[in-house]
Amino acid sequence: MAETIGDEHGLTQAQLDALAEQTLPLIAQINNERKAGKTPYRDLPYKTQTVAKVKKLAAEVKEGCEILVVLGIGGSALGNIALQTALNPYMYNLDENQRKGPRLFVFDNVDPAQFASFLRWVDDKLDKTIFNVISKSGRTAETASQFMVVSQMLLDKLGPQGLRDRVVATTDANKGTLRKIATEADLRCLEVPDGVGGRFSVLSAVGLFSAAMCGIDIDSLLAGARDMDERVSCEDFYKNPAALNAAINYHFYMAGKKNSVIMPYSNALKDMADWYRQLWAESLGKKVDLAGREVWIGPTPIKALGTTDQHSQVQLYREGPNDKLFTFLEVDRHGAALEIGPAPECAAELGYLAGKDMGALLNNEKKGTEYALLHDERPCLTVLFDQINAHTVGQFIYLFEVTTSLAGALFNIDPYDQRAVQLGKEATFALMGKEGDYEDNYSYEQFAADIRAKTAIDEDFLV
Ligand code: PA5
Repeated sequence: MAETIGDEHGLTQAQLDALAEQTLPLIAQINNERKAGKTPYRDLPYKTQTVAKVKKLAAEVKEGCEILVVLGIGGSALGNIALQTALNPYMYNLDENQRKGPRLFVFDNVDPAQFASFLRWVDDKLDKTIFNVISKSGRTAETASQFMVVSQMLLDKLGPQGLRDRVVATTDANKGTLRKIATEADLRCLEVPDGVGGRFSVLSAVGLFSAAMCGIDIDSLLAGARDMDERVSCEDFYKNPAALNAAINYHFYMAGKKNSVIMPYSNALKDMADWYRQLWAESLGKKVDLAGREVWIGPTPIKALGTTDQHSQVQLYREGPNDKLFTFLEVDRHGAALEIGPAPECAAELGYLAGKDMGALLNNEKKGTEYALLHDERPCLTVLFDQINAHTVGQFIYLFEVTTSLAGALFNIDPYDQRAVQLGKEATFALMGKEGDYEDNYSYEQFAADIRAKTAIDEDFLV
């Protein structure tokens, strides 16, 4: 995998050199933070014991398992979805000849219509289903409520042993609500490592278990991450892809490109864009910098898919505000060669497509879009995959995680907290009737009343 940069993308050599000077000490800084144990996500690709445990458990429960259901949200689901979409065939769930494991369903919402529809379908297949509930805290309302529905269903249909046999809980090693439940119900468990936030956890048991169950080569995935680790630890700016990526993103943000569009030209990578959106948004969207000053900073990550969104977004991208940096994900060799058939006799104007490879069309569409954007002075960056496999996906994940750490250092913010997410979570607890105090001398009940007052619909404007 490689990244491309160049003059035509709007950066001069002098600007790059200035960015190099600013970024170099930060590469050393994040390398030192890693050595001091402050960024444990950096060590996940080396956790051989975790891999052994994941593989052992997968082998144990895979026997007779036809359906794997992941219950989780945010960092406890997006990586799982991204790995599955990237590394297993499109028809995986529907065609048993195309899959090496159980069908996979990931539920990362609490839409009752969706979940009820699934539960109706799975009802007579529970003895062939494994539920992997993933929550570091166990307090997340979405995952907890899904799990409470599923637990009751398993208890009703299969009894306590059924619950034990059918559930794998991935959670904190020692503390938290899900750990308590798992201990009480004697569930099989995997661990969310200490100090690793959800959005940095895909290379831990969080992402590895569903991947291993579904036949993804997790050894290659981690080998790819280790390979990238060497490259992103390098203290030469021009040889370090994370440094280049972070510096370019930082430069254009400061130059007014407040939005970061990620645009894979591959359906396999489309959910990687979702994973990236969370990583970038939760890590870099911050009110205060490391000195406690208000900065209200952070690029807004936007997901687009090539070619699909050429026919939906590119009008705006070219002629709307020039406030975006475009990061393309381009794949040299796609998973299949597919020759386009002959043009119908009555449509000679389609002859230029006849006999060409569909992958060539996809990649030329990317070039065409990039050219069109550059024509209107929209900055573009490309991450090149020679092909999509577990190794390159491992590289990509690690590259973007370390890019995020470095971008955090350039923005001078803490990329590892997500305080702003908490208020909405607590508000939901209050509205759903949680008892006790939210803060000193302020009960959840009072909190709920205040929320209702503030969000009440103004009848004067109801039409
Ligand atoms: O990145 C994060 O930390 C969040 O997206 C969490 O993963 C998400 O809120 C789910 O939290 P939990 O795993 O505690 O249920």
